[in-house]
Amino acid sequence: MKFSPITVALLAEVAAVSAANSTIQYTASSDVGSTSTDAFPPIGTVANSTLFPPESVVGFPGPTPTGVEPAMAQTAPIYPYATGASNSFPLVAEQPKGHSALSTNFDITKYWGNLSPWYSVSSADYGLPDTSPLIPDGCTINQVHLLYRHGARYPTTGSAPSTFAGKLANATKAGGFSTSGELAFLSNWTYKLGAELLTPFGRSQNFQLGVAYRQLYGELLNNFTDTIPVFRTQSQDRMVKTAQNFAAGFFGVPEYVDQVNIEILVETPGLNNSGAPYEICNNSNVATRGSIGSAAAAKFASNAFNGTLARLQSQVSGNLTFTPTDAIAMLQLCSYETDALGYSAFCKLFTEQDFINYEYFYDISFYYNNGPGSPVSAAQGKGYLQEFVARFTQTYPEALSALNETFDNSSTYFPLNQSIYADATHEVVVLDTLMAFNLTALFNGPPLNVTANYQQSNFVASKVVPFGTHFTTQVLECPARSPSKQIRFIVNDAVVPISDSHPGCPVDADGLCSFSNVVDILQKRIQEIDFNYDCFANYTASAGQDYNGRAPKM
Ligand SMILES: *[C@@H]1O[C@H](CO)[C@@H](O)[C@H](O)[C@H]1NC(C)=O
Ligand SMILES: *[C@@H]1O[C@H](CO)[C@@H](O)[C@H](O)[C@H]1NC(C)=O
Ligand SMILES: *[C@@H]1O[C@H](CO)[C@@H](O)[C@H](O)[C@H]1NC(C)=O
Ligand SMILES: *[C@@H]1O[C@H](CO)[C@@H](O)[C@H](O)[C@H]1NC(C)=O
Ligand SMILES: *[C@@H]1O[C@H](CO)[C@@H](O)[C@H](O)[C@H]1NC(C)=O
Ligand SMILES: *[C@@H]1O[C@H](CO)[C@@H](O)[C@H](O)[C@H]1NC(C)=O
Ligand SMILES: *[C@@H]1O[C@H](CO)[C@@H](O)[C@H](O)[C@H]1NC(C)=O
Ligand SMILES: *[C@@H]1O[C@H](CO)[C@@H](O)[C@H](O)[C@H]1NC(C)=O
Ligand SMILES: *[C@@H]1O[C@H](CO)[C@@H](O)[C@H](O)[C@H]1NC(C)=O
Ligand SMILES: *[C@@H]1O[C@H](CO)[C@@H](O)[C@H](O)[C@H]1NC(C)=O
Ligand SMILES: *[C@@H]1O[C@H](CO)[C@@H](O)[C@H](O)[C@H]1NC(C)=O
Ligand SMILES: *[C@@H]1O[C@H](CO)[C@@H](O)[C@H](O)[C@H]1NC(C)=O
Repeated sequence: MKFSPITVALLAEVAAVSAANSTIQYTASSDVGSTSTDAFPPIGTVANSTLFPPESVVGFPGPTPTGVEPAMAQTAPIYPYATGASNSFPLVAEQPKGHSALSTNFDITKYWGNLSPWYSVSSADYGLPDTSPLIPDGCTINQVHLLYRHGARYPTTGSAPSTFAGKLANATKAGGFSTSGELAFLSNWTYKLGAELLTPFGRSQNFQLGVAYRQLYGELLNNFTDTIPVFRTQSQDRMVKTAQNFAAGFFGVPEYVDQVNIEILVETPGLNNSGAPYEICNNSNVATRGSIGSAAAAKFASNAFNGTLARLQSQVSGNLTFTPTDAIAMLQLCSYETDALGYSAFCKLFTEQDFINYEYFYDISFYYNNGPGSPVSAAQGKGYLQEFVARFTQTYPEALSALNETFDNSSTYFPLNQSIYADATHEVVVLDTLMAFNLTALFNGPPLNVTANYQQSNFVASKVVPFGTHFTTQVLECPARSPSKQIRFIVNDAVVPISDSHPGCPVDADGLCSFSNVVDILQKRIQEIDFNYDCFANYTASAGQDYNGRAPKM
C-alpha cells in the first residue's frame, strides 16, 4: 500500500502525538519562548458614524415600553449562584410540579421554544455523532459567517401574556375572583413586563456570544489589514442593542465603538430588508398561507392542557374561567418572567408533561410558520441566502435582491472580502434562512402531527430558534482533501450534515463538502425559490405537509 506524502505527514503527526510522553527527545525550535502578538485594529482605521449612523439618526426603533426593574435579590426563592462555565446565571428556573428540586433535574428552560435561552445542541442529534465545531484535523479556517438572533426580550406587543393580565384586571372589575393553594400568588400578581426590548439577561446573551466568537475565531481579525469589519443589524431598538452588545463582547468596551462599523438597516412595513422579510412578503401574515402554524399550534394547545387547566381552575373562585389560551399565556409568563426578572412563580404550576407539550406547541408553530411546512419560509430566507452566496462568490447578485433597500450595493455597505461576517436578525428569519439553504437534516422525519406529539421528527424549536440562536458557516482549507476548499454549517454548536440535501456532497463525518459544489447547489436553490409567487400569489396551504418551504402550485 502506498501513502501520499500528505497521508505520510499525517501519520507521522499521529505517531508523534501518541509518542508525546515516551522517551523521544524533542529539540527546542529556534523561536521557542519568543513573544508573538497580533494587532487589531489596523493603524489608521476608525469607525465612521457619518457613513454608519447610530440608532438616533436611523430611527424606526419600533415600540419601546419598559417594564419594572428586576428585584431577584428580593423575589427569587434561591440565590442565582454561578454553577459553572456555561450556566444561565443569573436566572433561577424552577423544577416542574411533581419534581423535587433535590431528587430530579429537569431543565424547563429547554422546553420554551423560541423563549428558551440558547443551549449547545449535539451534532449527534442530526446524525453526525463524531464531530464538533472544532476545526477538523488537517483543515484551517479562512472565514466565518455568523447569523444570530437577539437575546431574551420582553413579549412582543399585544401578545398572550399581556392579554392574560388584562383578563385578570377585567375579572377584578366584573365581580372579582379569589385564588388559593398553588394559585395564591395570583391574587397579588401584577404584570411587570414591558414589550419588545432586550432584557438584562438578553443583553448578556449577546455579549457572551461576542466573547465566545472572539475566543473561537479572533485570529481571523488578522485578515483585516486596512479596514475594520461591518456587522449588520436592523433598526428595532432590541436589534441595535443586540449588535452593540455582541460587538462589546467581541471587541471590548469601549473599543467596539471604534473597531467595527455597525450597519443599521431600516425595518419597517413595505421595505425589503433581508433581516425582516415579512415586512414585504404579504402572504407571511395570511392565515391560510404564511401563518398556518399559529392556528395549528393553537389547535394542539386546545387539547393538551385540559388536566392542568382543571387543576388550576379548582383553585379559583369567582368570575374567572381559564381557557387553553390562558394555559399558554401562563407558560409564557413562566418563560418571560424568568428571562426578564430572573424568576417566575408561574413555572411551578406546570408538570414535566406540560413543558413537553409547551415545547411541541412551539415546534408546530415554527415548523408550519417558518419551516418546511410553511409556503413562504424559503422565500423569506432568500434575501439572506443571496447575500451569503454573494459573499461566498464575491459577486453581487444580478437579480433584484434585498441588498439595496437602505444602502447601495457597495463595498462600503456590503463588503465582500471580510473574514468574519456577523449579522443580527430575528428567529423567524434564522429559520427561514435555514429553509432557503435547504438544511433538511434539521427536520428529518414526517411533518409534525398537529393533534398529538408522536416524537417522530427531530425538529425541536428550542434547539433552532431560541434566544441567541446562531447559524455559523465555516469556510475551510483542507489540503488533504480534493478540492481543498471546504465548507460546513453549524446551528448552535451542532454540525448539520448536508449529504442528503445537497447533491454531490459526500457522506462526511465532519459535515464537510466541497465549497464550490455547495455554492452551485445554493445558486440552484436561489433559482428555484420564486419570491413573487410564494409571497404574493393566491394559493391555499394547510398544516400537515412538508412543502420544503415553498408555496404549492394551484
Ligand atoms: C502517557 O503516559 C501516561 C502516564 O504515564 C500513560 O498512562 C499513557 O498510556 C501514556 N500515553 C502514551 C500514548 O504513551
Ligand atoms: C466618514 O466618511 C465620510 C464620507 O465618506 C468622510 O467625509 C469622513 O471624512 C469620514 N470620517 C472619518 C472619521 O473617517
Ligand atoms: C377587558 O375589558 C375591556 C373593556 O371592556 C376590553 O376592551 C378588553 O378586550 C378586555 N380584555 C380582555 C383580555 O378580556
Ligand atoms: C363576569 O365577567 C364578565 C366579563 O369578564 C361580565 O360580563 C359578567 O357580568 C361577570 N359576571 C358576574 C357574575 O359578575
Ligand atoms: C398579597 O399582598 C398583601 C399585602 O401586601 C399581603 O398581606 C398578602 O400576604 C399577599 N398575598 C399573597 C397570597 O401573597
Ligand atoms: C483573507 O481572507 C480572504 C477570504 O477568505 C482570503 O482570500 C485572503 O487570502 C485572506 N488574506 C489574508 C492576508 O489572510
Ligand atoms: C379539552 O378541553 C376542550 C375544551 O376546552 C375540549 O373541547 C376538548 O375535547 C378536551 N380534550 C380532551 C382530550 O379532553
Ligand atoms: C425583495 O427581496 C427578495 C429576496 O432577495 C427578492 O426576491 C425580491 O425581488 C425583492 N423585492 C423587491 C420588490 O425588491
Ligand atoms: C436601490 O436603491 C436605489 C436608490 O435608493 C433605488 O432607486 C432602487 O430602486 C433600489 N433598487 C432596489 C432593487 O431596491
Ligand atoms: C433539498 O433537500 C431535499 C432532501 O431533503 C432534496 O430532495 C432536494 O432536492 C434539495 N433541494 C435542492 C435545491 O437541492
Ligand atoms: C383567491 O382564490 C380563491 C379560490 O380560488 C378565491 O375565492 C378568491 O377570491 C381569490 N382571492 C383573490 C384576492 O384573488
Ligand atoms: C395525526 O394523528 C391523528 C391521530 O392522533 C390522526 O388521526 C391524523 O390523521 C394524523 N394527522 C396526520 C397529518 O398525520
